Amino acid sequence: MTVTLHRCILCTLFLSLCFVRLQVSVVAFGTNANKPPGNTEVSTCFSRQLASASPSNIKYLDSYIDGLNAYGSTFYREALRAAFGLLKETPTTSQRDKVILFLTDGVPSDSPVEIMESIKELNKELNNTVMIVTYGLGEAASSKGTEILTSMAEQNGTLYEVELEPNVRKGAFIPILNPSELRRLRRG
Ligand SMILES: *[C@@H]1O[C@H](CO)[C@@H](O)[C@H](O)[C@H]1NC(C)=O
Ligand SMILES: *[C@@H]1O[C@H](CO)[C@@H](O)[C@H](O)[C@H]1NC(C)=O
Repeated sequence: MTVTLHRCILCTLFLSLCFVRLQVSVVAFGTNANKPPGNTEVSTCFSRQLASASPSNIKYLDSYIDGLNAYGSTFYREALRAAFGLLKETPTTSQRDKVILFLTDGVPSDSPVEIMESIKELNKELNNTVMIVTYGLGEAASSKGTEILTSMAEQNGTLYEVELEPNVRKGAFIPILNPSELRRLRRG
């Protein structure tokens, strides 16, 4: 791995509520976005497509996350592009919910206008089927981070003069004031 990892993790969840068949991958981001390389013992999928959320795949992703180091900048757009790419590359055989869980403890290094325009364009390519749930820790849970993370979750960039796209699926912004909550989420 040659690129810079940061303190931010972007999880992409691709879930089927009908058949409870979950597909998942992780994007780590900072200055650049990185995806787990995949491991032939468990799956080769993670970097290009989502993988089924089997216990061994989850264990693999868990150890990938544990190995991340936090430094560099916080370019939200790189991460979003990678996450939408995973959703786009994963074949869909049925109507499934597509959800991006976006976790960050930093405010963006890129401009809110560019972030909101990217989301709009990337989601349009997927017929606006993708919901984004944002989680802010530390600085990102403060008033500084709340505005952009709320706009991203609601896919409403009017604060930054990005025209509203009708028919988007609204997610939610969840500030995480106590990071131990996140640990509990991760361990399920
Ligand atoms: C978007 O919708 C159009 C028209 O219903 C369909 O042909 C196309 O395959 C859809 N694309 C995606 C990525 O779902
Ligand atoms: C979009 O955000 C603006 C500014 O926060 C708000 O006034 C407006 O009601 C929102 N629109 C929708 C459809 O949520």
